[in-house]
Amino acid sequence: MIIDRLFAEIDLKALINNYMLLKELSHGKDIYAVVKADAYGHGSVPCSLALEEAGCNHFAVTVLKEAIELREAGVKGEILVFGKTDSRNIDLINRYGITQTVDSYDYALALNLQNTSINVQINIDTGMSRLGIMLHKEEDLENVFQEVYKISRLKNLKITGMYSHFTSADSDIDYTNKQKHLFDKLLEKLKKEEIDYGKAHLKNSGGIIEIDDVKYDISRAGIALYGYPPVPTKQDFLPVMSLYSKVIAIRNIDVGDGVSYGRTYIASEKMKVATIAIGYADGYMRILSNNDYFFYKGYKLQVLGRVCMGLTMVDVTGVDIHEGDFVEIFGKNKSLEDMAKRAHTITYELLTNMSKPRVDRVFIK
Ligand SMILES: Cc1ncc(COP(=O)(O)O)c(C=O)c1O
Repeated sequence: MIIDRLFAEIDLKALINNYMLLKELSHGKDIYAVVKADAYGHGSVPCSLALEEAGCNHFAVTVLKEAIELREAGVKGEILVFGKTDSRNIDLINRYGITQTVDSYDYALALNLQNTSINVQINIDTGMSRLGIMLHKEEDLENVFQEVYKISRLKNLKITGMYSHFTSADSDIDYTNKQKHLFDKLLEKLKKEEIDYGKAHLKNSGGIIEIDDVKYDISRAGIALYGYPPVPTKQDFLPVMSLYSKVIAIRNIDVGDGVSYGRTYIASEKMKVATIAIGYADGYMRILSNNDYFFYKGYKLQVLGRVCMGLTMVDVTGVDIHEGDFVEIFGKNKSLEDMAKRAHTITYELLTNMSKPRVDRVFIK
């Protein structure tokens, strides 16, 4: 079917460029390509296959369903599930050769009781208060060690990794170092007691850029992989997704005419208005009403009035633009970071919004 509305152009060369930069920053060590939520809206299967061809051997997702989708599409590398799979699905974890995160001895025990061998990684909560064995202070070290030790004795589970997650790698280096210290202490103790924890990993995109510590075996990168490093960096990360939508109508309006629901925009002069095929049902947030622009051949086309479910109007006065032309919503010429500020959100949310089925994808190799 011919694309007749909205599409995300996914530049796989940019993705590989970003992967290589992250590997360089990691002194050649591999990274888990975090491809959860359909690769942050970029399409997890094509992105993972392209990354695998470029040498990536590790992938991470949130739920088992996402992991199975990758395996069935031919991804051969390790696939780590961050979330908590129901223990009754253990045969699927085993059949598809997936690595499951465990966040407590109780959950590990429930998996072990199913009598099926699987690989697991242990999540240590050093500050997120989300998932993982709690290690918020040094006094907890002995208890955490005992919990890990008990997991290591479960005969059906092979521990292939241990990880923790930074809360503020992009904003608070002191707290990041505190988390790192706790995690390092645990690794030290496990080593001393000769408990095999497999690969250790801690750094996300922000951590890879901010913390140059070669001790860890691997890191996990999401947002930087897609071209948006969350902290300033000298490296040339490139946006992978550019979003375009079609002009589907153009009209001239008079002084006093309103635009869109509620008439929150009233023309104070004669104007030319274009209707663009994108709205909040496509992931283009309603909070951007009267507060964003689209890019077209060097022009910034101001959004006029409220964003509708599938349509948004922009000012094209004096612009040589026609029905059927495409405008850029964000990407190579229009900053997603800027748009995230206007929408009071983060690049992550705007990108994952684009996993809606109404958004077509075009992959550039
Ligand atoms: C456990 C875990 N590791 C790594 C990441 C990747 O983080 P980022 O996209 O900031 O690189 C995420 C994403 O939120 C995560 O939940």
